[in-house]
Amino acid sequence: MDLQTMQDQLTERLLQQQLVSATISQPRLKSNDIKRIKLKPVEIKKEYLIQFEYQHEHVLKHENLPVEEAARKLALLFTDFRQALFQFTDEKVQIQLSKKFKVIWKAEPTGEKKAELSHNRKKQYLLEDGIPYPFLVRLGVQSPDGKVKKQKYDKFRQINRFIEFIDDALAYLPQDRTVRILDFGSGKSYLTFALYHYLRIEKGLDLRVTGLDLKKEVIEECQQIAQDLHYEQLEFLVGDINDYNGESAVDMVVTLHACDTATDMALARAVKWDAKVILSVPCCQHELNSQIDAPELGIMLQHGLIKERFSALATDSIRAELLSLVGYETQLMEFIDMEHTPKNILIRAYKTDRKPAAGQFERYRQFTALLSATPFLENELKEYL
Ligand SMILES: C[S@@+](CC[C@H](N)C(=O)[O-])C[C@H]1O[C@@H](n2cnc3c(N)ncnc32)[C@H](O)[C@@H]1O
Repeated sequence: MDLQTMQDQLTERLLQQQLVSATISQPRLKSNDIKRIKLKPVEIKKEYLIQFEYQHEHVLKHENLPVEEAARKLALLFTDFRQALFQFTDEKVQIQLSKKFKVIWKAEPTGEKKAELSHNRKKQYLLEDGIPYPFLVRLGVQSPDGKVKKQKYDKFRQINRFIEFIDDALAYLPQDRTVRILDFGSGKSYLTFALYHYLRIEKGLDLRVTGLDLKKEVIEECQQIAQDLHYEQLEFLVGDINDYNGESAVDMVVTLHACDTATDMALARAVKWDAKVILSVPCCQHELNSQIDAPELGIMLQHGLIKERFSALATDSIRAELLSLVGYETQLMEFIDMEHTPKNILIRAYKTDRKPAAGQFERYRQFTALLSATPFLENELKEYL
């Protein structure tokens, strides 16, 4: 097949609204700034458009074009790229161009596929297996061609789930100034990098992100990776959550699996900084386990295993209630499937002007009295209660 015939066929299919998705790859020149382009149809204000997503080394750029214009753009792209994969409503087409622009066109029927046109559809922002994201390649989750490594698949899923939460939180973050984000106990920082990638590179938000952790070597490595990726508004600091006081206002606080009361300290700091968004997945809650004394619950608490789990659930319920009492709309949500980790509850809190409901504080008091508990977080927040 020659180039013109290929282009005519693609134009015809675009005009007939048969495109489901496409990826154009293999730049002829290694120096090409754009590495890959993804296409999909979108409907914006009732107009059928083709969205082009240009994947640069560290940045994604989008443009939505009417079909005729999209067809012309596509023809142009084939002067610079040698490979494409189109999913149409009835078949998959693989295209390979030779050095001299000879076309190999391989079509394979796939059964009926439907294009998902909603511009804001949920899956739009998820990271895809098969597309290389520089931070995931650098962190060893993906191989350089974008394939997720088998042993890293759970991590990949967790990262995607986390990005869903970040996306939901976006509406609560200021859009007119630099957004300040802290990740307490960032550890190896897969999720810190994911957060940065999504908010900065995909959403173009003006932000400054700091990951804080006790472990010097891990932090140095993360700092190096951030530098290598040119993530200029992401920094990593060695420090203890309990002593971290170098801020006056923060927009979003993240703590993922920070141990025991380090989570509470981070939550308390977030409230003091008037953070608009808090995302926290607690870890190893020991505090209540040693405090609980509730004869009424003896049937449960006589079993060490149950007591431990009960303490963890009670701790998270108390955390959520305290955040609600100081004006946060708070939910406890499933982070990822239980089969992957027992540390599965995410506390999500958005700042509101809401005052506590009548009797809410008394209800809280009755609960802590029942357990004979004096929670660390309550003490930290006493001036707000
Ligand atoms: C289980 S790891 C989780 C890492 C990362 N947030 C994640 O979800 O993949 C917990 C991290 O919290 C850090 N950490 C625990 N207590 C801390 C504290 N008081 N101050 C700073 N970091 C702390 C640990 O060093 C560790 O790296």
